[in-house]
Amino acid sequence: MAPGSSFLAFGIAVSAVALIYLFPRRRQSVVESYPPGPKSPNIPTLDAWVQYQDWGESMVHLVYIRENNMLILNNAHVAIDLLDKRARIYSDRAMTNMMKLCGFDDILSTQRYSDKWRGNRRLFQQNFRKSVSSRFYPVQYKEIHQFLHNLADVPEEFMQHTMSVSQGLIYASLYGLDIRSDGRLAQKAEETANVIGQAIVEPFPAIERFPWLHFMPSWFPGCGFQKVVQKCIAGVKEADTIPFDNAVNNLKMGTGTSLVAELALENPEDIEKIKAMGTVSFLAASDTTMSSIASFLLTMTQHPEVQSKAQAEIDHVIGRDRLPTFDDRQSLPYVESIYREIMRMHPPVPTSMRYLIQEIEYFLRFCRSPHVSTEDDFYRGYYLPKGCQVVANIWGINRDPNMFPEPDKFMPERFLNSPTGPYTNINNIYAFGFGRRFCAGRHMADNTVWLTIVSVLATLDLRNAKDDTDNEIDIPGEYTKTFFRHPLPYRSSITPRDQQARDLILATTTVD
Ligand code: HEM
Repeated sequence: MAPGSSFLAFGIAVSAVALIYLFPRRRQSVVESYPPGPKSPNIPTLDAWVQYQDWGESMVHLVYIRENNMLILNNAHVAIDLLDKRARIYSDRAMTNMMKLCGFDDILSTQRYSDKWRGNRRLFQQNFRKSVSSRFYPVQYKEIHQFLHNLADVPEEFMQHTMSVSQGLIYASLYGLDIRSDGRLAQKAEETANVIGQAIVEPFPAIERFPWLHFMPSWFPGCGFQKVVQKCIAGVKEADTIPFDNAVNNLKMGTGTSLVAELALENPEDIEKIKAMGTVSFLAASDTTMSSIASFLLTMTQHPEVQSKAQAEIDHVIGRDRLPTFDDRQSLPYVESIYREIMRMHPPVPTSMRYLIQEIEYFLRFCRSPHVSTEDDFYRGYYLPKGCQVVANIWGINRDPNMFPEPDKFMPERFLNSPTGPYTNINNIYAFGFGRRFCAGRHMADNTVWLTIVSVLATLDLRNAKDDTDNEIDIPGEYTKTFFRHPLPYRSSITPRDQQARDLILATTTVD
């Protein structure tokens, strides 16, 4: 045999052996190189983010639950690497047949990552980006000053006032409407959220397996979902239409202008998109904003020493003759640090959302879902399969001790004394999520929560309530444990700092 052909034969033999052994090995190594995960995961429905965080600590920052094809991210760098730097493949959302029928593919926060989503997101971007956020200032001042008035007037109802300022602000900002003067508006929005929740909480497995059932009448076996779909579509339509029509009428009659009405008159071809922007904003904004403000009120009541320090800063910079404005923000680093620390410790949506069937109500209620990957990927030596539900555990990320030492302690100083100081980019507030699906209303939210914090600190004292024997009543500081997190009711004492503060509140509130 010629030397060349024995080389060839040897080469073929080696290749054959390699094919036999290496190919299965390669497949095997893919199987073996999923990120680590709990052996038999028992995913809790309450305080799940705490369990996620524990898994993250005992394994690595990347936890994979194979049964659910779910990846949990417990570290900011990892979340940024995947959701931000590889956003092209980590920005999709899961969509069931039922959700599609209910119209969720028209709602920005639940939409698949598609041209349709890009179009809706662009509309949000144009109207909520930082450079235009001053458009909302007048409404923010008015609503937050009214909030101070309400707290001074009926302090024991501070929880209701917190919800009312959060809902009122978004309605007034978008539609120029006063939610308090028309009870139907809030009620309709609540009803819609519940109808949407019901549409999905009730399991309709038939439509997931047999999409053609959609074409069958509702009496056909397995078609019970049809009635729910109709109810859901009608509910969303009403929520879209009632405030929208009011706003447009007001503009036409010359009785008031608003963002939504102006947009509708300028872009008649985009009416449906504009309506949807209004509804999504209400659903996405009210409860999250409420949660952040409520967390601030609770935390300040628990930390009177922090309040005093912030009040000293405000008095020094602003004085006592006027209420704070947005122009003061850069001069109040301690107040900024309080805001950052509240957002770190108490993200309203601790898991930036994933959903199991039990949690779907919350996912729908707050109209957010996890990111879903659209391609197989490899990261830090691990295989991350396509279609994976990717959960940024904001709770765990914000309590990463390498980033935030003594993470369970409320310490505004960690931001104040950090090398960068407290005024870092809004991207560093992880409560607003990661990547291309990050919160579309975050500049508005950031301004609202900051202005509320500084205005309350400037005028009010928050303390423990006292019992009949003048002893302080303990505040347990409990939170809801479900996927939307906010403080549970408690008793406290809220009073104007002094007569001057009371006069200032009364003088500044605009009474229509
Ligand atoms: C303190 C207040 C708020 C917090 C903490 C918050 C937080 C979040 C989070 C965590 C997400 C999911 C991000 C992700 O998937 O990675 C989100 C999405 C979203 N938020 Fe907010 N949010 C707040 C206020 C608002 C406001 C005021 C608006 C509107 C005016 C808004 C509109 C939205 C929308 C439309 C989405 C979906 C974005 C998309 O899927 O492309 N949010 N928010």
